[in-house]
Amino acid sequence: MLKQSVQMDVISAKIETLKTEGLVLGLYEGQEMDSTLLKSIDSEAKGLITSLLGRGEITGESKEFHIVHLPGSQLTKIIVLGLGKRDKFSQETLRNVVAKGVRTARKLNQTEVTIALDVFQLDPTILGICSAEGIIMGLDRFEVYKSKKKTDKDKLTKVNLVVGDTHIASVSAGVNRGRILAEGNCLTRDIANHPGNKMTPTILANEAKKVADALGLEYRVMDEPELIAKGYVGITAVSQGSEENCKMVIMDFKGRPNSSDIDLALVGKGLTFDTGGISIKPADRMHMMKYDMCGGAGIVGAAYIIGKLKPKVNVRFYIPTSENMPDGKAYKPGDILQYKNGKTVEIVNTDAEGRLILADALIMAVEDGAKRIIDAATLTGAVTVCLGHVRTGLFCKDEGLKKLVLEASEECDEKVWELPLDDEFKVMLKSSTADMVNSGARGAGSTTAALFLNEFTADVPFCHLDIAGTAWIENLPTQYSFKSYLPKEGATGTVARTFALAAEKVAKLLE
Ligand code: BES
Ligand code: MN
Ligand code: ZN
Repeated sequence: MLKQSVQMDVISAKIETLKTEGLVLGLYEGQEMDSTLLKSIDSEAKGLITSLLGRGEITGESKEFHIVHLPGSQLTKIIVLGLGKRDKFSQETLRNVVAKGVRTARKLNQTEVTIALDVFQLDPTILGICSAEGIIMGLDRFEVYKSKKKTDKDKLTKVNLVVGDTHIASVSAGVNRGRILAEGNCLTRDIANHPGNKMTPTILANEAKKVADALGLEYRVMDEPELIAKGYVGITAVSQGSEENCKMVIMDFKGRPNSSDIDLALVGKGLTFDTGGISIKPADRMHMMKYDMCGGAGIVGAAYIIGKLKPKVNVRFYIPTSENMPDGKAYKPGDILQYKNGKTVEIVNTDAEGRLILADALIMAVEDGAKRIIDAATLTGAVTVCLGHVRTGLFCKDEGLKKLVLEASEECDEKVWELPLDDEFKVMLKSSTADMVNSGARGAGSTTAALFLNEFTADVPFCHLDIAGTAWIENLPTQYSFKSYLPKEGATGTVARTFALAAEKVAKLLE
């Protein structure tokens, strides 16, 4: 299920006695070599860092990068990374700097690397969390389908984190938590990166089962015949044109075993390949639609994190998973679906399939009595028009739930931005023969999709995250390299951590 990740040791070694193949050192703009740690590093380097700073060769500017070789020294070399302005330093700077440091060490063929963490002024636990996230997310690669794997040549097996004696325990606790968060992110990436022929609804359901079994979550799957029999018309209509059976995966984490409440329902779109169906997509970019199950993959990652961190909250996970294919049996434009909640939907575009499969999961969550619902879906190309690949679109009418999701997303820097849900937009979903159409007219495409979903959540507080822009990146100048711990190309693993942190925040509410 999980790739083996690197060993991380929190140590308080003195620089004078430290032996390493390379030391990663972050410096702020205008940095003085004033702390004990910096002084001892500089003296081990025979004053080289001070003189490079003095000459302006090292400035500490953000993204600055130098390798300072130290012949004859036990430190071997110093990988100097600019931290930028001290007052702009954030947890996110740390994740990025640490990722850059360990990636550099790996590239330089090191078997081990030491990071001087003492220079970062952060709460020691947070220091541990963000370092571990930067290390594990930064080193992650997806090479399953490469016959020559870079990973086979990797020698880096260990990262030492040097901290002051008094902070060992809290930094270590942070590292353990950060490792879990990062592993959940990487698991999501891993599942999401497989193409459509290797990640079918059945395989996705099995990936979820592996996590459920490993962590003791209850697991159930409703197969296509059961979904048809029970009247889940959306997912089964979308799946009609596919040889693969659709499925609804349901998992339960019981952090409050004495309560039967479902405190939080998490839903993720698991469309393993989206051709558009009869309203078929143009050929040139269609291959990217292997990423249309990133929401579902995020659910598996979130289940992993929640299963490991064990917050005191009951969470039910739903992954509606299907293919969207054109075929003689495929659902067609003009078809009308009558959902279990009574709403009728006229299909005007079979490519607006995500909302149709999610609607069934939302109906189920409401039927099951969920107290609040959050979903993530690669739902609309339109969200990329407004928010690019930097922010996920957030849609939520409930102030309390919105605040909680915003806090969760900030904590892990999976940035979101709120987009509108006003009733006025509903005119765009009017149908002449049914209650609504499945795809709005031109304009506000992400909002009309979100409004569509809101028709299926009754009065339950609901937050929708449109991750079509943020779930994966291509190696293009417009997308690449805004985070050092993300891959150059492929799935980003969003929103597993946001989901899990939101669950923790719900647990806090219930304390
Ligand atoms: N899976 C797509 C959305 C998508 C687009 C994800 C680009 C990632 C990148 C979704 O099913 C879709 O096709 N949406 C349509 C909706 C339209 C028909 C109303 C779209 O965005 O064009
Ligand atoms: Mn589509
Ligand atoms: Zn889709």
